[in-house]
Amino acid sequence: MTSTNKHILLGVAGGIAAYKSAVLVRLLRKRGAEVKVVMTSSALQFICPLTFQALSGHAVHTELLDAETENAMGHISLARWADVLLIAPATANFIAKCSHGLADDLLSTLYLAASCPVYIAPAMNQAMWGKPATQENITKLKAHGVYMIGPEAGDQACGETGLGRMAEPEAICGHLDSYFYDAGELVATFGQCLQGRKVLISAGPTREPLDPVRYLTNRSSGKMGYALVRAALDAGAEVTLISGPVSLTAPDQAEVVHVETAAQMYAAVMSMAPRHDIYIGAAAVADYSPVVAETRKIKKHDAQTTLILQKTQDILADVAALAARPFTVGFAAETHDLDAYAQTKLKQKNLDMIAANWVGGEQGGFDSGQNALQVFWCSDGGVGQKTLPMTDKSYLAKQLIQLISERYPKQS
Ligand code: C5P
Repeated sequence: MTSTNKHILLGVAGGIAAYKSAVLVRLLRKRGAEVKVVMTSSALQFICPLTFQALSGHAVHTELLDAETENAMGHISLARWADVLLIAPATANFIAKCSHGLADDLLSTLYLAASCPVYIAPAMNQAMWGKPATQENITKLKAHGVYMIGPEAGDQACGETGLGRMAEPEAICGHLDSYFYDAGELVATFGQCLQGRKVLISAGPTREPLDPVRYLTNRSSGKMGYALVRAALDAGAEVTLISGPVSLTAPDQAEVVHVETAAQMYAAVMSMAPRHDIYIGAAAVADYSPVVAETRKIKKHDAQTTLILQKTQDILADVAALAARPFTVGFAAETHDLDAYAQTKLKQKNLDMIAANWVGGEQGGFDSGQNALQVFWCSDGGVGQKTLPMTDKSYLAKQLIQLISERYPKQS
């Protein structure tokens, strides 16, 4: 019962699945969690607040501007109270509001104000779920670190069949249980574990130009690197991000340098590395780049053509070779022989730590919101290792940052 004593703020938006949220409150209470409920005005059309009040043992909140609340700042104190904000059901409209940062009622304002993890259980008609606008909003929220639970496929209240049913209350409780179980593995002092440290992180792919309109690149989305930036900031570090071209937004607190080519990334990292305590090379740097980038568009003539490529400079190895080197952490993305390749790279590049992950399979890796890592480090002449199982990249990043903080040489 890992949700025991946890504070769960349940947001209920206006969908027929709101009736299942009553069962959800009951199940969460049975696990020993404390639950407070916030309803949108449309949720009030589907289910009566008294139901939630009786089940949760707390008054239900519906108004943003509640004069009765101390300082009329109820939304901030509710957001601070929550260990998790769970929005179930989340309608298409409510998801759109969250993804665009609208805050025109209590629940959407709470979403913006909350710094705790947010879980969303969507519920809507299958056509609404399938609409590109909804899918874009979902993708955006996932990129912002929101955890999605469901939806499930099946018969819908509207008479149609398809994907869009809210996940069952038991399944939602299971997600929260495993979140709290995992989170128990992060030290209570995670928020200070890199306090005052300067962390340099490279992320995303590079682009190696062939001519003015073409380039060689790879499938890296930058999600892992950006999640590491957030996790390092959460751990109290000052963070510099050297980013290849990605469609992600970096946190305001990080200093960001945008680059495109491997050579630009090399120059940026090498100039910054000596001023940092820790370097994490999470970028998928091109191994080769065209010897010549044509100034005019290459025309097609022959049935086959040849590109002449030259090896790029290895940023990670060169950072690790600096006289005053930061604690140097690399990544190894492999399609086979993961452990062996990772350990070879750890030694050959003289790294302090390497995080290896499978790529090219069905789960995790490039462009996915989830991943698993096998982490290796040098330890007393041997190699230490830890498995970080498949999970959301934002949580995985926190686990890796914690591991780095444990291995980083303690200085007084
Ligand atoms: O040797 P390989 O490319 O597999 O090693 C991956 C690690 O090396 C990653 O951390 C990546 O950021 C880094 N790397 C680098 N410069 C390169 C190629 C890879 O820093 N030119």
